[in-house]
Amino acid sequence: MSDFTYKTLAPTHAAAWQGLRLEGARNFPMGFLVTVEETASADLDRCRAILKAGAIRGVFAGETLVGFCGYRPNSLERIRHRAEIGPFFVTATYHGTGAADALMKGVISEAKSAGLAQLELFVDTKNHRAIAFYEKRGFRRAATHYDGVRIDGQSRDDHFYTLRL
Ligand SMILES: CC(C)(COP(=O)(O)OP(=O)(O)OC[C@H]1O[C@@H](n2cnc3c(N)ncnc32)[C@H](O)[C@@H]1OP(=O)(O)O)[C@@H](O)C(=O)NCCC(=O)NCCS
Repeated sequence: MSDFTYKTLAPTHAAAWQGLRLEGARNFPMGFLVTVEETASADLDRCRAILKAGAIRGVFAGETLVGFCGYRPNSLERIRHRAEIGPFFVTATYHGTGAADALMKGVISEAKSAGLAQLELFVDTKNHRAIAFYEKRGFRRAATHYDGVRIDGQSRDDHFYTLRL
C-alpha cells in the first residue's frame, strides 16, 4: 500500500504521537498498560519529555506517523543482551497494510545492529491478532503471567514472548 519508514521519535513528533497513543488507549485497552485517563493527562510538554528520552520508535507512511513502539534495551551488564518492546501499536486504518511489519523489522534490525541476542514482550492472552502477528515473525511463547494486569479491576493474563535474534 505505502512505503514505510522506521525512525526514532523526537520531541517534534509529540502531537502526532499523543494522538495515536490516545487512539490506542481508547480503542485497544488490551494493548496498553496506560489508561485513557493517564494518557489524556499527559500534555504536549510531557509527551515531548517522554520522546526526548529516545525510547519510542515510529513507523511513517510518507510524512504521517501511523504507528509506534517502545524499545527498551537493558543497561546492566548481565542483562544487556536483552531488550523489551511495547506498547506496539499501529493505527486501525493501517492494520494489514505492512506498517506493523515495517515497524517490527526496524526494531529487529536495530536490536541486531546493537548486538542484542533477544527481544521480549508481554501480550494479553486474548489479543489473538497481536499473538498471530508476533508468532508469524518468530516470537515464541516462554511463559504465562497470571493476573499481570487489571483492566477496570478485571484480572487479565499475559503471555511472555521472546525472539532470538
Ligand atoms: C498488533 C498489531 C500491531 C498487528 O498489526 P496488523 O497490521 O494488524 O498485523 P497483520 O495484519 O500484519 O497481522 C495480523 C495477523 O493476525 C491475523 N488475525 C487477525 N485477526 C485475528 C484473530 N482474531 N485471531 C487470530 N488471528 C487474527 C491476520 O489475518 C494476520 O495474519 P496474516 O498475516 O496471516 O493474514 C495491530 O493489530 C495493532 O496495532 N493492534 C492494536 C494494538 C495492540 O493490540 N498491540 C499489541 C500489544 S501487545
